[in-house]
Amino acid sequence: MKNNLNQKIIKLINYYNISNLNNIFSNLPVNRLDKKTSILLNGNKSEKLKQLKLKIEKIKNCELKKNASQIVFAGGNSSAKIMIVGEGPGAQEDQQGLPFVGRAGQLLDKMLSAINLDRKKVYITNVVNYRPPSNRKPTPEEIQRYLPFLNAHIEIIQPKILVLMGSTALNAILGDIGVISKVRGKWFEKNYNSLTVWTIASFHPAFLMRQPDQKKFSWIDLKMIKKKINEI
Ligand code: URA
Repeated sequence: MKNNLNQKIIKLINYYNISNLNNIFSNLPVNRLDKKTSILLNGNKSEKLKQLKLKIEKIKNCELKKNASQIVFAGGNSSAKIMIVGEGPGAQEDQQGLPFVGRAGQLLDKMLSAINLDRKKVYITNVVNYRPPSNRKPTPEEIQRYLPFLNAHIEIIQPKILVLMGSTALNAILGDIGVISKVRGKWFEKNYNSLTVWTIASFHPAFLMRQPDQKKFSWIDLKMIKKKINEI
């Protein structure tokens, strides 16, 4: 009887030791796309970024990579406090190798400038680093494959604020916590090992181009981001 109890306690201790306590005590739902595969990188920030880019370029048997002309790794300032995550490169991005340089990018620039930000003050990447054929959404399998790279990217940059543009970025990072129209405009504290990042989802600029009446909600989110920048 006593032995049984001891064994149960040992099992429980082992369970808590292998589990991430941040997940156990977090009010965020478990993100099933996030398999917590860690990527080993060494050196300073710019060396780690180079290694990460090389690792992504070595991905094999990927439909996205096969159809794209080049990797779209990131843009902006790697020392920025604010990191923006979009969905995936489009045609212009695929041609230039930089994120958000097409029409959605022009709108993003306007949105940033409305709160006194520009590309020198933010760092930008996407959930997937190769253009999905015909601009389709990345599949759950593709998102799951690229997510360890995105997580590593965030840990290298160490942003204070993470802005998730659109539902693909929202679901990749925060899991299935609801539709973007309900989840946008709320702050979440997302933990990455020793890093805690203020995270907010907002509408994707490409969506706003199709539904300009939704811009009023983006404006609310932008003002929340501006306020948070001033607080931290
Ligand atoms: N849309 C995105 O999500 N990312 C880009 O880089 C461009 C358009």
